[in-house]
Amino acid sequence: MPDVIGLGGSLRAASTSRAALQVALDGAEAAGAATRLLWVRDLDLPLYTAERSIPRSARELVDTAHACDAMIWSSPTYHGSISGSFKNVLDWLILLAERDPPYLSNKPIGLVATAGGVQGLQAVNSMEFIVRALRGWAVPLVMPVAQSWQSFDPDGRLTDEAVAAQLRALGAEVVRAARQFQAEGTCDYAGQYGPNGSGQRAVSSSAVL
Ligand SMILES: Cc1cc2nc3c(=O)[nH]c(=O)nc-3n(C[C@H](O)[C@H](O)[C@H](O)COP(=O)(O)O)c2cc1C
Repeated sequence: MPDVIGLGGSLRAASTSRAALQVALDGAEAAGAATRLLWVRDLDLPLYTAERSIPRSARELVDTAHACDAMIWSSPTYHGSISGSFKNVLDWLILLAERDPPYLSNKPIGLVATAGGVQGLQAVNSMEFIVRALRGWAVPLVMPVAQSWQSFDPDGRLTDEAVAAQLRALGAEVVRAARQFQAEGTCDYAGQYGPNGSGQRAVSSSAVL
């Protein structure tokens, strides 16, 4: 059974991006995954810096991200991109640099955004850049929810069944991709770049940093 971690939401109690993430995870669960939602607001991470001790919540985040089979990310659209609080959570994933395999290797990642206007796809595209930087695999089916005030009530509950169905389909697609990776084993390049993929890691770490 694939383990799918949802990561995202805003700092607002009635966060629509958190609610959308939960619906996508419901779709993943219906497709046979075990799911867990990590809400940016609950993580309450300090701004990333390498010059302080690593908070326990950051360690838990990176351990959970490393152990899962797939992720779904969901951000509000802020100024045509993702929110600073969500980006900060993703910045902490640099702690996965020395893991084996590094970063989010072999993990499919589904992308969701909510937007007050129609710029949600820009937030999705911003996330896709980050997925690539972290060596994950962005799932092609994405879900930018436009004009979120029309699809969610003031308490942040999703009221639009068509949007819900698309989010659930995205969750199911992430599970389908995770199963492909499980069937294949992994997608590492050990054979090509030397024993245990060490050569590949050395080359790519410098490329990422
Ligand atoms: C600081 C800020 C910047 C925003 N920038 C945009 C934007 O560029 N484009 C857009 O469509 N919506 C924008 N919005 C609206 C949010 O994307 C929208 O309200 C979203 O649903 C908020 O997500 P949340 O409910 O998870 O907090 C912005 C909202 C805030 C607070």
